[in-house]
Amino acid sequence: MSYVKCLRGKESGIEYPITPRTSCDLDFSPVEVVYDYERMKGRVTRKSIEAGPQSLWRYKDLLPIEGEPKTGFHSGWTPLVRANRLAAELGLKELYIKDDSGNRPSFSYKDRVVAVAITKALEFGFKAVGCASTGNLAHSVAAHAAIAGLPSYVMVPYDLEEGKIVAMRVCGPNLVRIKGNYDDVNRLCSQIADKYGWGLVNVNLRPFYTEGAKTHGHEIAEQLGWRLPKHTVLPVAGGTILPKVHKGYQEFIQLGLVEDNQPVFHAAQAEGCCPVAKAIREGKSDFKPQKPNTIAKSIAIGNPADGQYVIQDIKKTGGFAATANDSEIIDAIQLLAKTEGIFTEPAGGTTLACAIKLINDGRIPRDEPVCICITGNGLKTIEAMNGRFPHVEPIEPRMDAFDAMMNSMPARADAN
Ligand SMILES: Cc1ncc(COP(=O)(O)O)c(C=O)c1O
Repeated sequence: MSYVKCLRGKESGIEYPITPRTSCDLDFSPVEVVYDYERMKGRVTRKSIEAGPQSLWRYKDLLPIEGEPKTGFHSGWTPLVRANRLAAELGLKELYIKDDSGNRPSFSYKDRVVAVAITKALEFGFKAVGCASTGNLAHSVAAHAAIAGLPSYVMVPYDLEEGKIVAMRVCGPNLVRIKGNYDDVNRLCSQIADKYGWGLVNVNLRPFYTEGAKTHGHEIAEQLGWRLPKHTVLPVAGGTILPKVHKGYQEFIQLGLVEDNQPVFHAAQAEGCCPVAKAIREGKSDFKPQKPNTIAKSIAIGNPADGQYVIQDIKKTGGFAATANDSEIIDAIQLLAKTEGIFTEPAGGTTLACAIKLINDGRIPRDEPVCICITGNGLKTIEAMNGRFPHVEPIEPRMDAFDAMMNSMPARADAN
């Protein structure tokens, strides 16, 4: 039996039964899954979690599903890397990378939210699923729908990276390319949900879908040896992951699984799409929508559904926000790969570039433990690195050609 009690309007407090729902009827604000944490106490323990599978389903008691998981058997439980070489570069004492670039099956944090949403879609009896997406979500929905044997309809802006389009199409979804940006796609998708009766993971399944993002935070805490980092830096697009990682930490504190070290959250956005970061920097509690123009397409959402909750959590925890321009994003992608061997996409480059600014500005003290969350994979966005590397002329397969090439190289670090 699950610990889920009901859905509740975040602003109105109105309670709703567990059925597909986009928002609160009264004020259109998001609805949130409510759990019986009292009943969990003494039952959901470090030991019970550690006995679970090596996937996000080890946190099943804290997720809104009733029966057994239907997909996502290999999603989650991604590495938490102690990033010593990057830490040395940034002058930090204790740095971790939560690396969702290798998440399964679709190589981004979205596999967490989709695993929950598609399981829920099957519990509700939907015969088809879909989403509005900036790319990674569409790839994840296509892959999980394939695993679950459901048809899928994925709706994306027309100008996505080729790698993402191929990666999603190979899973066999019905792809709908829309002449507009994500905010246009999302608006259309909300109308489609009512008309066609599909389970749209980030529309009428949204309350359940967003809960999957908590597991990114649950894992950080467990993999750190049941403690929380002092600072967590996360990218912001629609505003799902940051408040949900915060909720994940708070759940563990409430259940007595970790000590409350007053964790601080920081937001990262691209300069070309930063409604939330701008509001935080200006001390405002609400954001003004923007028209995106950035290389970080996966986080190019100008009117984020949960943006105000990001602002609230940043303020509440004493964190801050930073932005990075395209060239800083690319530099950070390369720095992460050169120090830790992790190839992330522009969303991850944004997160690292912003973390560096927050450190240099003293918002993140160098002697406090930091976790930087890497949420996507660079192999899906290789065009972002276009022009970054000089052409390498091929040589003949002979020793003299190799020696000549070596002699023409600039001073080498490995030469004695
Ligand atoms: C790679 C990647 N990181 C982060 C995000 C942030 O998403 P959100 O703020 O909506 O949770 C997205 C959203 O599409 C993404 O694709």
